[in-house]
Amino acid sequence: MTGRNWRIGALFSRSGVTAAAEVAQANATLLACEEINAAGGVLGREIDPVFYDPGCSIERYQELAVRLLAEDRIQAVFGCYMSSARKVVLPEVEAHRGLLFYPTFYEGFEYSSRCYYTGSSSNQNAVHLARYLLENYGKRILLVGSNYVFPYEYNRVIGDLVKRAGGRIVDEIYVPVAAAPGDFERVIRQTRQKKPDVIVSTVVGTGAVMLYEAYHDAGFDAALMPIASLTTTEAEVAEMRPEIAEGHLTSASFFETLDTPEARRFVAAFKQRFGPAAPVTAGAEAAYFQVHLYARALAAAGQDAPDAISAQLAGMEIEAPQGRVRIDPGNHHTELWSRIGRASCRERVCSVV
Ligand code: ACM
Repeated sequence: MTGRNWRIGALFSRSGVTAAAEVAQANATLLACEEINAAGGVLGREIDPVFYDPGCSIERYQELAVRLLAEDRIQAVFGCYMSSARKVVLPEVEAHRGLLFYPTFYEGFEYSSRCYYTGSSSNQNAVHLARYLLENYGKRILLVGSNYVFPYEYNRVIGDLVKRAGGRIVDEIYVPVAAAPGDFERVIRQTRQKKPDVIVSTVVGTGAVMLYEAYHDAGFDAALMPIASLTTTEAEVAEMRPEIAEGHLTSASFFETLDTPEARRFVAAFKQRFGPAAPVTAGAEAAYFQVHLYARALAAAGQDAPDAISAQLAGMEIEAPQGRVRIDPGNHHTELWSRIGRASCRERVCSVV
């Protein structure tokens, strides 16, 4: 029954550098839609998601956003992983007076009345991580990131926090987004030479796998000098050889191992739908609860006009798998839970420390 259904758009990549993380988010978006529809839909109408695959191409993100908004006449777009994708999609959403629901941790320093940010921003994902590293490992930090906006901005924040605490950034290295194994030779060389207490990585996707493999093959010890990284989640760990990520640190608002009734129910439903090996990440959890948030706003508004949805979302709270979250009406970001985790590659999970 498509004619009367509520249609939403979803932009997540199924191939390319960050596909592992984005497939988890696409799965979670679909799961939320299916749950809502199984419970009778919204006001008796099903939610009908239209998924497009931009293949991690920034140009395709922009083109497909326009297709959703202008040709499919869809007003609510759910998606984007890399901040560079969000930065080309959001102007299109604004021009077409739609809404973007962005479910990924990011650098912060942004506001649009047409965007809802359901992942953590730097004040929610860098501050406590920097404090934890400085207190537990030391003050000499080496930064390595992929060459685009999120790593630059995130590293600026980490750099400020480290310097304020009397620490030092011993080096700051960027590799291409579509990195090759050889791009990490300099990282290993500089790590040997500068001897940091910890490496903070914002290398994304397939590059993250290469970084951890290079680190492991160089013989470094995660117990003495860990890599701490937001961009290494259950999805990237699942792509690594066993033992590679063991003991390294991450920071997120949700982990697959979170032991609460809401988290366990969500993870069980996800695994039942997509298979026991399907990774459940913080980005997936945000992708999941933002569809439920939207459905709640839709039910209250009785229509899907973006302004009517926005009026309902202001200050809205929901019992998410990570815990209770709330949309801040002033900046459209989400009040959420920040946690630090340690990776166990043998079990392919990250656990809260
Ligand atoms: C990101 O680019 N926000 C992961």
